[in-house]
Amino acid sequence: MRKSIGPKKIKTAVFISGKGSNLKNLIKFAKNKRYPFSVDLIFSNTKKAKGLRYSKIYKIKKKVICYDKKIKTDKKILKILTQKKIKLICLAGFMKILSKNFIKKFQGEIINIHPSLLPKYKGLNTHIRAIKNKEKFAGCTVHYVTSKLDSGKIILQKRVKISKKDNHFSLAKKVLKIEHLIYPAAIKKILN
Ligand code: GAR
Repeated sequence: MRKSIGPKKIKTAVFISGKGSNLKNLIKFAKNKRYPFSVDLIFSNTKKAKGLRYSKIYKIKKKVICYDKKIKTDKKILKILTQKKIKLICLAGFMKILSKNFIKKFQGEIINIHPSLLPKYKGLNTHIRAIKNKEKFAGCTVHYVTSKLDSGKIILQKRVKISKKDNHFSLAKKVLKIEHLIYPAAIKKILN
């Protein structure tokens, strides 16, 4: 990864599909001088993503493209990323799997936040599965994105205790809180 040099921030695109609490959190951290990135583009695969509202609130360009893993879609998105000089993509609740071609062609790093202690519980419904398996801990992981689902090198991981009273809703809330701590910290770690 090209490191951020001096006060120049690495231009970042955040990819979302839903409510965008991680996006909002990253935007907040990016405004801080000590964090070496800026959020310059919000990308969503659906216009229904609630997080798209942060585009207007924070005056950040947004793009909605139906992501279908076809070369044409890849080209369209890569063109926008190149035009905007994006060097880092942060997936934040992006519920599509990027194509091999896209990952290969993008000239920068792609990272993701996943709501489990990887390599445990890749994929969906992580909290339901962790509770069902009577795990003592849950957590979240920031990792590099490769073409294998939730399998790239881990950058940061943090755990929380699962209490007897937890259901998957309360656990998701707890985990989201620590996601908001480790995502900006992970970006700082790879860029500094
Ligand atoms: C987060 O918990 C994130 O870890 C998860 O979706 C949620 C998005 O919340 N991502 C995945 O499950 C990816 N496989 P947000 O829209 O409020 O940031």
